[in-house]
Amino acid sequence: MDVLCPYPYASKWIRSKPNCEPPVSFLSLHIPFRFFTQCVSFGRRFRTCDSVSPKSMEVSGSDSDGRTFSNAEEMWREHAGDDNRKTQWYSDGVAYWEGVEASVEGVLGGFGQVNDADINGSEAFLNTLLAERFVDGGKSRHLVALDCGSGIGRITKNLLLRYFNEVDLLEPVAHFLDAARESLAPENHTAPDMHKATNFFCVPLQEFTPDAGRYDVIWVQWCIGHLTDNDFVSFFKRAKIGLKPGGFFVLKENIARNGFVLDKEDRSVTRSDLYFKELFTRCGLHLYKSRDQRGLPEELFAVRMYALTTDTAKKASKTRSKSQANRPGIIK
Ligand SMILES: C[S@@+](CC[C@H](N)C(=O)[O-])C[C@H]1O[C@@H](n2cnc3c(N)ncnc32)[C@H](O)[C@@H]1O
Repeated sequence: MDVLCPYPYASKWIRSKPNCEPPVSFLSLHIPFRFFTQCVSFGRRFRTCDSVSPKSMEVSGSDSDGRTFSNAEEMWREHAGDDNRKTQWYSDGVAYWEGVEASVEGVLGGFGQVNDADINGSEAFLNTLLAERFVDGGKSRHLVALDCGSGIGRITKNLLLRYFNEVDLLEPVAHFLDAARESLAPENHTAPDMHKATNFFCVPLQEFTPDAGRYDVIWVQWCIGHLTDNDFVSFFKRAKIGLKPGGFFVLKENIARNGFVLDKEDRSVTRSDLYFKELFTRCGLHLYKSRDQRGLPEELFAVRMYALTTDTAKKASKTRSKSQANRPGIIK
């Protein structure tokens, strides 16, 4: 079971996942006894629910105040169950990030030191996918990516711009996007000459529809927890039209051990692997490949990368007609 880490400077996004054991730095901070007793009772509750229902959305979850919900539907009804609550949910989420410094440390919730491991893990996964999905690993294509919930453009700058001829960024928080625009200006990055950040969309995912057939890869990292289940599903259904043939999504996220964990402060939900898989099915997406991120500090949530496709083909066809190559992916 996952619990929020109540020690100061804990990340809102990369949270503690102890087996009721706090991280070492946390131990020195005189944790209230209440915290441990809560862990024990939550643990029991999770195990019970897990064994009763195979459906992750029917498994209980908890919030950052230690409250439990018997299932995800109950949590969503309470937090985004009507138009007013849903509007509040999204505006609170953006307001949280508006108060965060536009830096690597800021977007990683005080865990800037995980940047290198994160980028290296993503790069290895991306290389595998490009090699498998595209002829010549995509070298003969004009590769275009979309970085969703891009923050300050950390992933674009450190990874995507080295592989993609063009990268578009989508980010609802204006001061993050301004910082991205600045740091991705041609004079401020070392990516190959012809590679550039092209469009900067200041909109949230739940309101975005991509241009048809523009992207080889749509990268969604550490931001999908802000979307309700219904908006998660409708975003991916709309976004499929944005993929080129053979294109794919990469979703990289924190993973709850069971059910879900709601962070009331930044209005985000950390979902379990099973929960994600049920949502992928609702999106009509095929789980092409997944990989665990390694090398992150023990006290943090597990992080998993999912490659999602609109087709079920294991590998991309090596011969593709010109007319097919210019057509957007099929919407299922
Ligand atoms: C933990 S940061 C991660 C930023 C970036 N993906 C990275 O890994 O460096 C979460 C990002 O999600 C953005 N975000 C919050 N609500 C969002 C929404 N509804 N749609 C898209 N992005 C959102 C935040 O503004 C923030 O930039």
